[in-house]
Amino acid sequence: MDTALDEVKKKIDIIEYIGQFVTLKKTGRNFKGLCPFHQEKTPSFVVSPDRQIWHCFGSCQDGGDAIKFLMKWENITFYEALKELADKVGVKLRHSSVEDAAWRRKERLIHLNSLAGEYFGYVLAKTKVGELAKRYLSSRKINDRIVNKFQLGYAPQSWDSLFKFLHKKKFLPEEVFSAGLAVQGGRGMYDRFRGRLMFPLKDQRGNVIGFSGRALHDDDPAAKYINTPEGPLYHKRESVYGIDTAKEAIKKTGNVYVVEGEFDVISPYQAGFENIVAVKGTAITREQLQLLQRYTAKITLTMDSDAAGLEAMKKGIAEAEEMELEVGVVSLDFAKDPDEAVQTKPEEFRRVLSHPVPLYDFLIDASLKKYSVHEAYGKKKIGEEVAVFLAKIKNPIVQSHYVKKLAAILDVSESSVASLMRRATEEKKKRIFMRTRTQASTEALRETLLQKYILSITFQDETYESAGYVLQILNPADFSIPAYGKMYAAFLEYKIKYPDKFMPTVFILTLPAELQVVFDEVLLFATSDLIFEKENLKKLIFEAKRYSLKRQLATLLRMTDEKEGYERELKDLNHTLNEVEKHLAAL
Ligand code: GTP
Ligand code: MN
Repeated sequence: MDTALDEVKKKIDIIEYIGQFVTLKKTGRNFKGLCPFHQEKTPSFVVSPDRQIWHCFGSCQDGGDAIKFLMKWENITFYEALKELADKVGVKLRHSSVEDAAWRRKERLIHLNSLAGEYFGYVLAKTKVGELAKRYLSSRKINDRIVNKFQLGYAPQSWDSLFKFLHKKKFLPEEVFSAGLAVQGGRGMYDRFRGRLMFPLKDQRGNVIGFSGRALHDDDPAAKYINTPEGPLYHKRESVYGIDTAKEAIKKTGNVYVVEGEFDVISPYQAGFENIVAVKGTAITREQLQLLQRYTAKITLTMDSDAAGLEAMKKGIAEAEEMELEVGVVSLDFAKDPDEAVQTKPEEFRRVLSHPVPLYDFLIDASLKKYSVHEAYGKKKIGEEVAVFLAKIKNPIVQSHYVKKLAAILDVSESSVASLMRRATEEKKKRIFMRTRTQASTEALRETLLQKYILSITFQDETYESAGYVLQILNPADFSIPAYGKMYAAFLEYKIKYPDKFMPTVFILTLPAELQVVFDEVLLFATSDLIFEKENLKKLIFEAKRYSLKRQLATLLRMTDEKEGYERELKDLNHTLNEVEKHLAAL
């Protein structure tokens, strides 16, 4: 293994490190907290000081070391995370120490992009050709503070000025192309952005990952906005315009306003609304919501008054509800978009923004605008449309509130609303059932979890006290998961060799590599107290035994040609099963 990597890992204390991001509580040997990578109310995120690893037993089902944590937290590559941690603990990385071609390419493209951004900024601020764009910005009432804050620029009306500039900076044509700044034409490459006002698109850490360029005349025959295409740096689904300038304000206010366009971010920002980001004219995606969720549990969608925006928003709702985000909506019916609203009616803008409508009230209102509530047909349409969303609400009190409200508006009984919701849920269930039919039955799942839990408790107990109970009842063949059986067998051998104390860090070295990964996950499992914590170990061991015996019996009964000693074996198994049942009944 790499020495610098080892050194970094040795110097980082994972509890202290992750503790900066997540509130951790000691439970037994491990530490536990709410997983930062998904929304949850019961902690399923476990960190082990022994093994210096973390694992989420909730919907992530993911884990690793401190580096992996930072990779996931910042959405960066292995090498980027290693570098950040190395800097933090003062370990020098030799440049060749870790080969990570993807990272190197990425870092070079970020550098290229940020130079391009400086170039556009320079053209805007300091050159004669830039005056056109300056005039455009003042026509839209954007001041210099905002130009600097968002590093706006101007791409001159030329085929290759940026290309030449980057060439002088020693970038290869392929690199300029790969960053999306050049287009391949019949007679060579040329600049993608020409004669446009430039908005650098940045990630949450402020790295320039792409650009958006606006035409200076609305009668430009080309598109009004041109964006960097998908590439190694820029992923439209994940990118949120303005996240770097907004993130501190988002954390402070606990809310983020989501708008559609670049000007809808910078104009309100200029007027003092700093917790504002844009999804650039598309439906908000799960990836974008996840990024925002790092900073806030509440988001406020800021809708233009058109119907297209409403449809786009609906796509994001299911995701947001799934993630248990609190969603509010503000609709600006007095202006075309937030830019126009804040520029023409700042007071009204402020008032509307400070009174977001809860999402479900907004949906009911929107539906009421579409259909007539005075006709049976209109009622049916409104009911169906809204019930689909109400059925998704996770909190029963909130749900009941809206059922009452919808019933009152439609002047029907609550039970008819409830039945519409049931229909919506059943359709969904049917779809889910089709998907999961092939998955393990809940019994099989419980058996696996039992085995995992028993092993976890056993491995976490360095005095072998729990092992004492387990040993009496279970043998490796009782584990239906082969990896668990093998691990248990290895444990029995280890115990003979080291009868005084169980040390997870020593034990893991006796396992083959593929089992080491499983071991880490099993070791942390019991701390996540998701399932069994309150039941007692003995009972669980017997239960696991019962599962095993039943499995063996079923196998035996399925055999067609009776082998030698069949009767005897059957009788023994039955007898043992009876004993186990008796023990279970007595506990
Ligand atoms: P301004 O006219 O500059 O105020 O833009 P806008 O935000 O009012 O424009 P609009 O509502 O038409 O579009 C919303 C957002 O969608 C824009 O800010 C862009 O991010 C994006 N967009 C608009 N037009 C285009 C286009 O032609 N191509 C692409 N790729 N994106 C566009
Ligand atoms: Mn606009």
